[in-house]
Amino acid sequence: MKIALTSDHGGYKLKETIKNLLKELKIEFIDFGTDSEKSVDYPDFALKAAESIMNGETDRGIFICGTGIGISIAANKVPGIRAALCYNIFAAEMSRRHNNANVLALGGRVTGDELAKAIVKTWIETTFDGERHEKRINKISEIEKKFKK
Ligand code: RB5
Repeated sequence: MKIALTSDHGGYKLKETIKNLLKELKIEFIDFGTDSEKSVDYPDFALKAAESIMNGETDRGIFICGTGIGISIAANKVPGIRAALCYNIFAAEMSRRHNNANVLALGGRVTGDELAKAIVKTWIETTFDGERHEKRINKISEIEKKFKK
């Protein structure tokens, strides 16, 4: 599995922590920036990293801003992206099992390093339950199609 990793300035420090975790776990990733705590706009980073998932360059993403809110909203505008903002391990598990989330959003100013690492590990290891949940995911795709120009 290859992960698209990205953040804005508010998520930069946590992104670096997660980068080290991915290295330890020997999980491939592409870092789409940002590269410092200098102020940037999170939609730019969400778009680049989300596109890499949709064109098959990467499989899933971990996107981080200050709260995780802005970057998850932006990511969810890209058709096919199901970004889940998770502040705890249970949500991370369920976002995979029930929602087949392909992006995990984290808040660098909300979640401490150790909890964030545990959330990431759970999210990476947990698989989609399928069955009745598949039908619901398909309904999300139908909503996207309805608004496609
Ligand atoms: C940047 O100051 C901050 O607004 C951003 O990181 C994020 O929290 C937005 O949702």
